[in-house]
Amino acid sequence: AKGESLSICVFGASGDLAKKKVLPAIFSLYYDRHLPENVRVFGYARSKMTNEEFKEKIRESLPCRISAAGNCDDVIESFLERMHYVSGLYDDPKDFKALDQAMAAEEAKMGKKAMRIFYLSIPPSIFVPVAQNAARECSSSTGETRVIVEKPFGRDLESSRELTSSLAEVLAEENTYRIDHYLGKELIENITVLRFSNIMFQPLWSRAYIRNVQICFSENFGTEGRGGYFDNYGIIRDVMQNHLLQVMALFAMEEPASLDAEDIRDEKVKVIRCIRPIEMDNVVLGQYKGRRDGDKQLPGYLDDETVPPGSKCPTFAAMALFIDNARWDGVPFLMKAGKALHKRQAEIRIQFHHAPGKLYKKQLGSASEMNSNELVIRIQPDESIYLRLNSKIPGLGMRLDQTDLDLQYKTKFSEANLPDAYERLILDVVQGDKRLFIRNDELEEAWKLFTPLLKTIEDDQMAPELYPYGSRGPIGAHYLASRYNVRWGDTY
Ligand code: BG6
Repeated sequence: AKGESLSICVFGASGDLAKKKVLPAIFSLYYDRHLPENVRVFGYARSKMTNEEFKEKIRESLPCRISAAGNCDDVIESFLERMHYVSGLYDDPKDFKALDQAMAAEEAKMGKKAMRIFYLSIPPSIFVPVAQNAARECSSSTGETRVIVEKPFGRDLESSRELTSSLAEVLAEENTYRIDHYLGKELIENITVLRFSNIMFQPLWSRAYIRNVQICFSENFGTEGRGGYFDNYGIIRDVMQNHLLQVMALFAMEEPASLDAEDIRDEKVKVIRCIRPIEMDNVVLGQYKGRRDGDKQLPGYLDDETVPPGSKCPTFAAMALFIDNARWDGVPFLMKAGKALHKRQAEIRIQFHHAPGKLYKKQLGSASEMNSNELVIRIQPDESIYLRLNSKIPGLGMRLDQTDLDLQYKTKFSEANLPDAYERLILDVVQGDKRLFIRNDELEEAWKLFTPLLKTIEDDQMAPELYPYGSRGPIGAHYLASRYNVRWGDTY
């Protein structure tokens, strides 16, 4: 509305995340007219740069969607006109005062009320000073101030509590948006829709029909260039404690009382609290090693110069989790995540019990996983949902085979309907919708679950099983699954 403006400031504006994700997402929202005309975007970082230099740097990362209007260049220009760069230190209140003034000068041209959003796209070691300085020196004096924090939110329960309480000194929980970008992914938002709006799934969604659930994440590249960050965290903190646990919670939670943020998050917290403490016996760790591929040498994790020599940091982990409640008692939830594997893919795979009785035993064979129903929610790439069924192969004989009822997003929906996760989440912050953000108690429960395990791994200096770059991961993951009579579906 006229008289109201929006200022978004990205701290760490010259960093990778800002350039690859955050600024392009803000641009796409602007492009699709989801942001008010009166929007200003500020980049703040330490590097000395002029406004023009910053804009040149950003320009090439702004995505032009194929659109009927075909006027992307004009939109880029008008977006860049709304951008400003401020360079400053992260621990000097004076520099934040200068930022505040730069924001105020722009806002004064636009109206009386201004909402401010700060995006902390910075390393965890400076979260607290930046949040404190921003809150103290740059809070909007005329409208709301909201702060988006990127993971990692701490390294364990204790450091996460410290971070939460330091942020709480200057920021109300209500205005703190902890981002987990997996929650912004189309297919992950669809889990709740699938479960609670389709009657056919409701009776099936429990131990009575589900034999196991697999939540798998793999990437076909290593930590290239991010080894310094990664080595301090490892794969469990990097994607399991947050992204994969969130997926599991949405998958397994009870039906929320409403779609309100608090109701959904109440249910997630409740189900996470029901997860049994993880035993080391149920965990497999791996680390990728170099491999020769034709005349190319694929680097091992330890070949990364930013990784300390001899590091035991896991780049792969697989584990079996159990939810001790009435719905899921005894059902293994197998989680697997790794870098430098044979493909990039994330999915949830639900394997059902096989049909009782003996009618088609002869045709189907006895290996149960070969003939039981499976529902797959493919998060990425090739977003899709498919249901594996047994069916008769057409013809005169009686032969059965598995076929898929297949919902491929690519063919069913146009690409424009698949916004990047960051787009959805930043728009939610503008609109004050917290459904897809992590509440502090949820974060606390996630750390309570993983901290003892991480402590054992690190105190005991557990050695990861080595696996070659580009492979399917350590063989131990296979043994872990077979202990529960499960075969990983993503490596069939
Ligand atoms: C990030 C992790 O949170 O998620 C990265 O820090 C990982 O290590 C990334 O590569 C994966 O995100 P996406 O959206 O590409 O699956």
